[in-house]
Amino acid sequence: MPLLRKVQDRLGIVVVAVVTGFLLIGAFAQTSAPTADVIDIHVDKPGASISPGMFGVFFEDINFAADGGLYPERIKNRSFEFTEPLSAWTKLLRDGAEGELDVRTEGALNANNPHYLRLHVDTPGSGFGIANSGFRGIGAQAGEDFTFSAYVRNTGSGPRKIRAALIDEQGKTIGEALLAGFNREWKKYQATLHATATTAHARLNVIVEEPGDVDLDMVSLYPKDTWKNRPNGLRKDLVQFLADMHPGFMRFPGGCIVEGRRLALRYQWKKTVGDVSDRLGIVNRWNDEMAKRLTPDYFQSFGLGFFEYFQLAEDIGASPLPIVNCGMACQFNSSETAPLSETGAFIQDALDLIDFANGPVETPWGAVRASLGHPASFHLKTIGVGNEQWGPRYIERYKLFAAALKSKHPEIALISSAGPSPSGKEFDYLWSNLRQLHADIVDEHYYARPEWFLANSARYDGYDRKGPKVFAGEYAAQTDRVVSLENRNNWEGAIAEAAFITGLERNADVVAMASYAPLFAHVDAWQWTPDLIWFDNLRSFGTPNYYVQKLYANNVGTRILPVTAPKGLYVSASIDQRTSEVIVKIVNVSGAARPVKIGGAFGSGRAFVLANANLKAENSLDQPGLLTPVESAVAASPQGLSFSLQPYSFTVLRLPLANPRALKPAKTKSPDPS
Ligand code: AHR
Repeated sequence: MPLLRKVQDRLGIVVVAVVTGFLLIGAFAQTSAPTADVIDIHVDKPGASISPGMFGVFFEDINFAADGGLYPERIKNRSFEFTEPLSAWTKLLRDGAEGELDVRTEGALNANNPHYLRLHVDTPGSGFGIANSGFRGIGAQAGEDFTFSAYVRNTGSGPRKIRAALIDEQGKTIGEALLAGFNREWKKYQATLHATATTAHARLNVIVEEPGDVDLDMVSLYPKDTWKNRPNGLRKDLVQFLADMHPGFMRFPGGCIVEGRRLALRYQWKKTVGDVSDRLGIVNRWNDEMAKRLTPDYFQSFGLGFFEYFQLAEDIGASPLPIVNCGMACQFNSSETAPLSETGAFIQDALDLIDFANGPVETPWGAVRASLGHPASFHLKTIGVGNEQWGPRYIERYKLFAAALKSKHPEIALISSAGPSPSGKEFDYLWSNLRQLHADIVDEHYYARPEWFLANSARYDGYDRKGPKVFAGEYAAQTDRVVSLENRNNWEGAIAEAAFITGLERNADVVAMASYAPLFAHVDAWQWTPDLIWFDNLRSFGTPNYYVQKLYANNVGTRILPVTAPKGLYVSASIDQRTSEVIVKIVNVSGAARPVKIGGAFGSGRAFVLANANLKAENSLDQPGLLTPVESAVAASPQGLSFSLQPYSFTVLRLPLANPRALKPAKTKSPDPS
C-alpha cells in the first residue's frame, strides 16, 4: 500500500479511488464445464522442513482487545487515571442526597496511581455515590460470580460501608456486594457479587449511605470464572479461540502500540509487571488514531501486562514473540526518534526482557519472574526490534540492537522490519540493508485487496533461499480498500488469504512464520477492520479468516512436497512424518465445482472443507457457525483419490500413505486437524 494512502486513510481524508497495479478484475471468475484435473504430488521428493510453529497469532491492544476484551475487568477507569479522571463514572444522588466527587492526589495509593476519588457526603439521602458504565456496558451471565474490590481509606468519621449494585438495562438490581470496616490507611477490601440475570449492558453503582469523607481507588468488578480460574485472569471464550488454533507463536504487544504516537507513550514492558495497582496506565494510541472511529475512552490499564502475555503464550502452546521499541515513535504519527546515543537504554530494556523471560532466578529480572510465580523459563527464542519502522534511522538503530543482543544472546533470533508496505522504495531499501547485515528474519506486512493476495500467491517462489527468512507478520485482505472502515471479514477476503497462504507454505524454507492482523475486535468499540475474532460483552465468534488460519495452523506437515497445481487452483502439499499422512490444501476461487484427481497410493483419509457459494457471506454473533470447516471421510482407490472441490472452497485433505514404511518417523506429535 502506498505510504501516503495509508496516512490519508488514517487521518480520515477522503481518498479518490486508486486502482493499484495488482487489481485483477474478475479474479473470482465463474467457470463451467467441469473436467477432472490432476494434482501431481511428489511424495517421493520431500523438500525443506516446515517449522511446526509457522502459523501464529498477532496480538495488539486495538479495538478494545485488552481492556474490555481479553482482560475481563468490568470497570473502566478503575483507578481514576484517565485524562478525564471521572471518565466512565457518573455521580449518583438518591432521595435528597447531597455531596461532591473530589478527584485528589494527596496521599495517593502509590506513585504510579496518583489519583483517587474522595466521596464527600453532606447528606446521604438514600445513597450517594458513583456509577460505572463499563466497556460499552458491563456484561454478566446469570449465576456468574464476580469479585468486587476497592482500595478504601476512611478519613476518620466517614462512611464505614460501601455497597455495590449491578443494575441491568431495565434498572433492576441483579447483584450486590458490601465492603465494610475501613480505617485511615489504604487497604484493599473485597466481596463476592453474584449476578442473578444475564445482561450485556449493565452498570455498577457504588454507594455510601452515611455522611463524611471516604477515599476510593482501584474499584474493580472482576469475573471469577477466568481462563484457568486465575485471579486477574483472562476471558475464557477468547483464549479458547487461540488455544484451538494451536498457534506456533504469539506476537505481542503489537503493532503500532509498541511505538506510541510519541516516545513518552511507547509501550514500556517494565511498567506492565507487578501488582496491578502499581502499573502506570497510559492513553491507548488507537484512542484518536482513526479520525472516523474516535474512541476517547480508550486507555491501557496494563492489567494484561508482560507477565500475563508470557503466561498466555505458554498456556496456548505458542512461542512468545515480544516486539520491543527501538527508540522510534510511530512514523505515521510524530516520528519522534531518540538520539542514536540514547539507544543503549532501549537495548537494555530488551536485554532485561530476555532475562525476565529466560534468566535464572538469581538474575534480577529472573527473580522478578519467579516472584510472580513462574521460576521456570518462558523459553523466549525470538524478539522483534521495532514494529513497522523504515528508513536509515531504523537501520542505524537495528545495527546497534543486533550487535548488543547477538553478542550477549546469540541464541535469540531477531525480527527486523520491512516497513508498512510489501513493495516500493522503503521496502527495497530495508531489504537490501538487512540482507547485507545478515538479518535473521524480516517482518513483511501486507494489507491489500483480495486480488492482491491471489496475484501474489507465488510471491516467495523467487525469493533468495540464502538470505534472511521472512515473517509474514501482519496481513489481511481488505475487501473494500486498505484501512477502510467498510472492510468486511467475509468469505471473499478469507478465501483470497487461503489461496495466498498456499504460497507461504510451499515456500516454508523462506517463510518461517506468518500471522493475520489484527486479532480481536469489540463489535461496539473497534477502530480497525477486518479482524480475526469479534466479540461483545458476552459472546464471540471466529470469522471465516479465523477458520482459514486454524486449518493451516492445525495441519502443518513436517516437509514440503513438490506439487503441480492445475490452472485456476491454488495448491500446497506437505507430508506429516509423524502420522505418515500427505496433507493437501486446495483453494478453488471459482464459482463452479472442480473435480480433481490426486495420484498416489493412499488409505481412507479425511477432508476439511470451508466453503460458501456467497463470497459476501460472513459469520456473526447471531450466526457464528455459518462458515466453519466441515469434516468428512474420503476414500481413495489404489490409483489415487477423486474429489470434487466445492465452488468457492478451501479444502484440506489428510491422506494416509498406503505404504508409510519408506518414511522416516518423526518424534513430535501432530495437532488435532479440525
Ligand atoms: O494491525 C493494525 C496496524 O497495522 C498495526 O498496529 C501496524 O503495525 C500496522 O500498520
